[in-house]
Amino acid sequence: MSNYHIKHFEEYFQVYRKSVRNPEMFWEEIAEEHFAWRKKWDQVLSWDFTKPEIKWFEGAQLNITENCLDRHLRTKGDKTAILFEPNDPRDPAEHISYKELHERVCKFANVLKQNGIGKGDRVCIYLPMIPELAISVLACARIGAVHSVVFAGFSSAALSTRINDCDAKLVLTSDGSYRGSKTIDLKGIVDEALTDCPRVETVLVAKRINSEIIMVEGRDRWLQPLLDQSSSDCAPEIMEAEDPLFILYTSGSTGMPKGMLHTTAGYMVYTAYTFKNVFQYKQDDVYWCTADIGWITGHSYIVYGPLLNGATTLMFEGVPSYPDFGRFWEIIQKHQVNQFYTAPTAIRALAKHGTELVDKYDLSSLKVLGSVGEPINEEAWHWYNDNVGKKRSPIVDTWWQTETGGIMITPIPFSTPTKPTYATLPFIGIQPSLMDENGQEIKGNQVSGRLCIKFPWPSIARTIWGNHQRYKDTYFSAFTNKYFTGDGALRDEVGYYRITGRVDDVIIVSGHNLGTAPIEDAINEHPAVAESAIVGFPHDIKGSALYGYITLKDTGEGRDHNNVRKEINQLITERIGPIAKLDKIQFTPGLPKTRSGKIMRRILRKIASNDTSNLGDTSTLLNPEVVEEIMENVL
Ligand code: PRX
Repeated sequence: MSNYHIKHFEEYFQVYRKSVRNPEMFWEEIAEEHFAWRKKWDQVLSWDFTKPEIKWFEGAQLNITENCLDRHLRTKGDKTAILFEPNDPRDPAEHISYKELHERVCKFANVLKQNGIGKGDRVCIYLPMIPELAISVLACARIGAVHSVVFAGFSSAALSTRINDCDAKLVLTSDGSYRGSKTIDLKGIVDEALTDCPRVETVLVAKRINSEIIMVEGRDRWLQPLLDQSSSDCAPEIMEAEDPLFILYTSGSTGMPKGMLHTTAGYMVYTAYTFKNVFQYKQDDVYWCTADIGWITGHSYIVYGPLLNGATTLMFEGVPSYPDFGRFWEIIQKHQVNQFYTAPTAIRALAKHGTELVDKYDLSSLKVLGSVGEPINEEAWHWYNDNVGKKRSPIVDTWWQTETGGIMITPIPFSTPTKPTYATLPFIGIQPSLMDENGQEIKGNQVSGRLCIKFPWPSIARTIWGNHQRYKDTYFSAFTNKYFTGDGALRDEVGYYRITGRVDDVIIVSGHNLGTAPIEDAINEHPAVAESAIVGFPHDIKGSALYGYITLKDTGEGRDHNNVRKEINQLITERIGPIAKLDKIQFTPGLPKTRSGKIMRRILRKIASNDTSNLGDTSTLLNPEVVEEIMENVL
């Protein structure tokens, strides 16, 4: 029996059991049967969570793009690999076949080489959702360069931090980007970022919006003429299984973002296998994930997972609200989308506009609906199920992280019975455990605790770029011999998991991870600010939104508080990006602190959430009077 494609619930259990009883044998079989290798591995797995060190398929040699592209040329050369839907619905969609994609990736790879990029070099990609983004990712992988994609909504300061952290010497960008009815000056943002990045030698610029931009002599070059002159012949660089494939930054609870490093073979095997099963992709299906390639969801489930399976993957440049809130449904009808993968925040935003726009379009092509990025609330789940899936298409609520590389807890559609708000069961090979605060595993059902994973899976991030100690401290120190996810979860009476949210200082806003520390750092740069604390509070559309408690240096007298509010949000936009702006800002004479000086975020969180029935004993605080004051003036 091939275990590659799971078709029913009993099969899931059989395969799952096999995958945890003998993981090496299981993953070896999957790797052997479904991928092209230049050399087979000497050892399937070696691991030690105390170091931590994890290696999959050691000794193997391969190139992931050979698996994404070359392997399909004979049988699927003319099949659409990337279906590009532009921002403006009046512009034609672009169908890029496997043959064409192969050619364009090879040309791009040669351009990178001509610009001095080779194996192991880091390339920072700051591009909108245009084909060049996917192509450049693959071009890096083709020649063994390590891509570091930075979401093109991040500010210049956030971009320069990421460029410097991984020491990228080449940056890819475009003159600008379209976002609904607006355009964004991406090149201007890059220029500003590069004033702080002395080691960047080259910037290659794709033309998208035809705006007037400044090209810096000796540094900036237009991409297209280089591609036009470039050869479409580019042999893949032969990579070791554990060679770096990419770095992707994610927020942590302290200042610097964490550059999660993913390596080649394990990531390939796991993203391909999860894609096939979680979306039940069949030949000729059109699959659409609405994420941006700047996030892990886009890396694993727009680019690598689908292409490894020879799928047609739709890439959408625009936003769900342009030209109106029916845009997603229009695209589904137009391209006969079969699998649709989006985020709860998008579902809530669209649900707000009622069902009229959904009902206007024929969505009967849909077979599977996916959700990712944050817990999906019951109301959104039902709206999605009733109005988009018409109660016919199972919803896969997929829980995973930048660090996990691929989907970890999820139903398998048409096999696992779904349950609203539950990510349900661990995927094949995944061994979750719930831990209590004393470090003990909580066995049995109907329990809740901190979510850990006790055995490695092929696509786990191997380190934080340049900071292995932080990797160890963040993920492997809270619980002995376990990977700690930072999430809380509960396990119901049948063993289904429901993710309850972060248990650290990371807040998920519209599906984006935001650490409180970098936001507080940005706020504290304001000359009038003495101190600040950020917490999350429930928000109808964003899931969570940000509430800032801010103490000003003087009493704030003579200051226009609204101006300070604006300036603070401006600072946050500059340092991080508009996604991290605060929804509410309360000025307070002080922040509640323990006697050792630690800010009591738990109390602040409760007040911001209007849940003050059980604040606990505040009398032991250093400044209990401040709690009353904050409660009286809560926004
Ligand atoms: O808290 C969990 C939440 O998103 C976090 C990971 O964020 P990021 O690394 O940006 O990756 C997002 C896309 C994979 C997790 O620690 N999260 C993600 N998916 C879900 C979720 N929470 C609940 N349910 C989910 N399906």
